[in-house]
Amino acid sequence: MDFARLWLGLLLPLVAALDFNYHHQEAMEAFLKNVANNYSSITYLHSIGKSVKGRNLWVLIVGRFPKEHRIGIPEFKYVANMHGDESVGRELLLHLIEYLITNDGKDPEITNLINSTRIHIMPSMNPDGFEAVKKPDCYYNQGRENYNQYDLNRNFPDAFEVNNVSRQPETEAVMKWLQTETFVLSANLHGGALVASYPFDNGVPETGTLHFRSLTPDDDVFQYLAHTYASRNPNMKKGDQCKNSMKFPNGVTNGYSWYPLLGGMQDYNYIWAQCFEITLELSCCKYPREEKLPFFWNDNKASLIEYIKQVHIGVKGQVFNYNKVPLPNVIVEVQDRSHICPYKTNKFGEYYLLLLPGSYVINVTAVGYDPHLTKVVILEKSQNFSALKKDIILPYRGQLDSGPVSNPSCPMVPLYRNLPSRSAATKPSLFVFLVTVLHIFLK
Ligand SMILES: *[C@@H]1O[C@H](CO)[C@@H](O)[C@H](O)[C@H]1NC(C)=O
Ligand SMILES: *[C@@H]1O[C@H](CO)[C@@H](O)[C@H](O)[C@H]1NC(C)=O
Ligand SMILES: *[C@@H]1O[C@H](CO)[C@@H](O)[C@H](O)[C@H]1NC(C)=O
Ligand SMILES: *[C@@H]1O[C@H](CO)[C@@H](O)[C@H](O)[C@H]1NC(C)=O
Ligand SMILES: *[C@@H]1O[C@H](CO)[C@@H](O)[C@H](O)[C@H]1NC(C)=O
Ligand SMILES: [Zn+2]
Repeated sequence: MDFARLWLGLLLPLVAALDFNYHHQEAMEAFLKNVANNYSSITYLHSIGKSVKGRNLWVLIVGRFPKEHRIGIPEFKYVANMHGDESVGRELLLHLIEYLITNDGKDPEITNLINSTRIHIMPSMNPDGFEAVKKPDCYYNQGRENYNQYDLNRNFPDAFEVNNVSRQPETEAVMKWLQTETFVLSANLHGGALVASYPFDNGVPETGTLHFRSLTPDDDVFQYLAHTYASRNPNMKKGDQCKNSMKFPNGVTNGYSWYPLLGGMQDYNYIWAQCFEITLELSCCKYPREEKLPFFWNDNKASLIEYIKQVHIGVKGQVFNYNKVPLPNVIVEVQDRSHICPYKTNKFGEYYLLLLPGSYVINVTAVGYDPHLTKVVILEKSQNFSALKKDIILPYRGQLDSGPVSNPSCPMVPLYRNLPSRSAATKPSLFVFLVTVLHIFLK
């Protein structure tokens, strides 16, 4: 061990403080590479693919074991700048990285978070778009779309209708990435409004569109997640800070209620990647002047940290057979909130279910086993940095005459054909449709 360097390291921060300027691709890469070099034990930098113009799509992972998944440690992600002209999220994620790495071992909350969570941070999903912005301003700009002029938040498969678009390299890269990790919780950072918006963004009558909204079976959890973010952001929580915008009570909205969209990333995450994702609109102005960046960091820092912690609500564990062998690809769902594409254990036999405090019945369905129901009670949230841990051992089955339970997979698009209707009180308003016309270039 080089003593002089160690001593210097204690005196000087290992990475020069990040300034509050916009970081274009080259400067962003330099920052990420310095972080990865200087904090190699808790970070890992990799590119999940390339943009149309060949720019790397960087992801920096922060965690005690950054290079690979560990059993019991949930995977979390933030993705920003999928609309290249929405610039605030991109810089906030760079500052978040700096905040996490420089507080590890100093701030107990951050240390606990890094010990218990693997945090994936993608500051820009659309680097070509960001570089294409010629004259930054507050409204729609060229640069929203990728280099081929596709809006990446309309470019994913859609659960409710066929989305016949040419899938872009940035979208393909994200879809592939989602298959490589068991992401549990995520947020997608935008600009042009101030609101935390939760799924669905698209819908059918069965999800509530006749009532001007589209809700998931996990609506209680999604509302809680959106409130967790919005309530810690002093301007977002007021709900009416952007001129010419809709008013959002408490700074929260259902995506469809605001305005419907086809092919969004948030719905894709929830339906096909088993990952709960919300959409965060962080600034009324899409591309504000650099002088405003410290203000945005101040307003969002507590929310960004608190939101990551929510990956630890609910219950998690592994499913084993009677020989204690972990079982992958087993359906583990909560009764009465089953997903249209059933949530399954990963290759380590792990499941993660985000749930609010309460009593639930977990339904485990494995090929070759009888259906297995087990009760869990989630207590009031503790500051424990761990979901309730519950491993499930499937009983010895013996030689039964009846055939094994089949393992249903994800049906073809469009989904939600045969779901019972969720009836509920009527909410909005003609106003929604009028506002929709004005807002199609936000989320
Ligand atoms: C650490 O970061 C600084 C910039 O802040 C850089 O100059 C230096 O090369 C980095 N050190 C290593 C070992 O990568
Ligand atoms: C975090 O992990 C480190 C390394 O494993 C350990 O030394 C430390 O006690 C842990 N800190 C907390 C707060 O859990
Ligand atoms: C999808 O779009 C392509 C090109 O725009 C078109 O040729 C094709 O017929 C479309 N397919 C469907 C199912 O709409
Ligand atoms: C458990 O889930 C399976 C499919 O995943 C379903 O067929 C069955 O009806 C469920 N059982 C209960 C009691 O909910
Ligand atoms: C924290 O959670 C873990 C997993 O559920 C549990 O084993 C442990 O006892 C909890 N610790 C505290 C202090 O609540
Ligand atoms: Zn956007």
